[in-house]
Amino acid sequence: METTLIILKPDAVQRGLMGRIISRFEDKGLQVVGSKMMQISQDLAATHYEAHKERPFYKGLVSFMTSSPVLVLAIRGNDAIAISRKMMGATFGSKAEPGTIRGDFGVSNSFNLIHGSDSPEAAERELSLFFKQGEVLSFDRAGDAWVYDMSGGKPE
Ligand code: RTP
Ligand code: MG
Repeated sequence: METTLIILKPDAVQRGLMGRIISRFEDKGLQVVGSKMMQISQDLAATHYEAHKERPFYKGLVSFMTSSPVLVLAIRGNDAIAISRKMMGATFGSKAEPGTIRGDFGVSNSFNLIHGSDSPEAAERELSLFFKQGEVLSFDRAGDAWVYDMSGGKPE
């Protein structure tokens, strides 16, 4: 099982899209195992996006991410990282396919609603940036036996 860090960005919160976006992950069968609303500090945004430090869009990106509260989620499932990225769609709303979160809810190339970790290494790093020890939970859901085929001893 993988756990990924998802951020519903300021535009998603301001536009009242939190519930609908969370529902997509729940509908898919992924499990929400951590959740917090917060206003991201300048320092945290800079650290989170430090790989983009030299890019022309970096300053605007940090300013957008700190402009208003976000909802941070830890989401778990088999292949949760790749599945979440696929559900998010391409980076720019104008390019993202219909059926994806960015494709269905936005047109902007800056205000693109959602962040998701792009690799297991990034997920580990980002989860520890946003969640303290104990804030990402482990629990069985009553319906899990019908989300995954466990007959082989592992989730399929
Ligand atoms: P994210 O990290 O937020 O999940 O998005 P991503 O992987 O799809 O895209 P990434 O390349 O990591 O870029 C991070 C965020 O920077 C903004 N961006 N602007 N104007 C531009 O050319 C440009 N490129 C990227 C987007 O907000 C993107 O989500
Ligand atoms: Mg990225």
